Amino acid sequence: MTLEIQNVSKLYNRNKYGLKDFSLRIDKGILGLLGPNGAGKSTLLKMIATVSKPTEGIISLNKNNIVKDANYMRKQLGFLPQDFGVYPNLNTYEFLEYMAAMKGVGGANLKPRIKQLLEGLNLMEVAKKPIGSYSGGMKQRVGIAQVLLNNPKIIIFDEPTVGLDPEERVRFRNLISDLANDCIVILSSHIVSDIDTIADKVVIMKNGTLITHGSQDDIIKNVTNTVFETTIKNEELANFKAQHIVVSTTRKDGHMMVRYITENPLENATEMEASLEDAYLYLTKTN
Ligand SMILES: Nc1ncnc2c1ncn2[C@@H]1O[C@H](COP(=O)(O)OP(=O)(O)O)[C@@H](O)[C@H]1O
Ligand SMILES: [Mg+2]
Repeated sequence: MTLEIQNVSKLYNRNKYGLKDFSLRIDKGILGLLGPNGAGKSTLLKMIATVSKPTEGIISLNKNNIVKDANYMRKQLGFLPQDFGVYPNLNTYEFLEYMAAMKGVGGANLKPRIKQLLEGLNLMEVAKKPIGSYSGGMKQRVGIAQVLLNNPKIIIFDEPTVGLDPEERVRFRNLISDLANDCIVILSSHIVSDIDTIADKVVIMKNGTLITHGSQDDIIKNVTNTVFETTIKNEELANFKAQHIVVSTTRKDGHMMVRYITENPLENATEMEASLEDAYLYLTKTN
C-alpha cells in the first residue's frame, strides 16, 4: 500500500488556497496529521477520499491516479468526515444497510458483517433505537462501523475524537491500534495527545503546507535540549510570553511554572525531556 501525494494544491477562491503544493508519500501504518484549525487537514483528507478534486497535482494509490480513477480508491476506502452527520431517525441497522448500498457492499455477507461490527463496537444493545437518541461516543461508533463495512485498506478519520469524553478517547485509540495491521490509517487532529500514543508517523501542517513529517522521535529532535521549566511571578507572564515560546503554564503556590523552549535558558531553569507537544508548538509557532 502506497499513497502518493504529488504537488497537490486546492484553490478555493481566486487567491484562497486550502492546500498549497503539498507532497507526501504514505506507507502502511498509522499516520497522525497534526495542525491548528485552518491548516488544511480536511481539505487534504477530502481529496484523498475523492470527495473533492485537487486544483493541481496528482494523488495516486499504488500508482493508480485516483484523481482520474476515483473508483480505485473508493473500493478500498473507509472515510469518517469531520462533519459526519448521521440520520437521526434511522436506527443503526437501517443506517448501515443504507451506507452499504452507497458503497456497493451487499450479498449474503452483509448481515453477518453488520452483526460482527455491532458486537465489536458494543452497539448491539442500542442498534434498534434511533441514532438521534445516542450519546456523542455512540454516534461516533456508528460512524466507525460505517467506515469498516467494506473491510477497507485505507482508512481516514478526520478529527475523530472531537466530542468524545476521556474514556471514549482511550477506547477509540485501542480500536485504531487494532485496525492498522496491513492498512494505511490516517488520523487528523489539532490535539497532540490524540495521536502521540498511536501514530507511527506524524505530519505537521499549517497554512496549507507541510512543515515536517517523520517518526515521533524525528520530530521531537527539533526541540531536544531546548525545553525548560522555570518559576516566574504571575505578573511577569505577559512579558515572558512575548520573549519565549511558552508550551504550558501551571500555577503553584502563588507562582507560575512555565514550560518553554529556548536556546538560552534562565539560570534557574530546569531542563525537561522534550515531547511531541513541545515540538508541535515550537514548529507551528516558528513557521
Ligand atoms: N469550501 C471552502 N471554501 C473556501 N475556503 C475554504 C473551504 N473549506 C476550507 N476553506 C479554507 O481552507 C483552509 C483550510 O481549511 P480546512 O482544510 O478545513 O482546515 P483544517 O481541517 O485543518 O481545520 C482554511 O483557511 C479554510 O477557511
Ligand atoms: Mg478540519
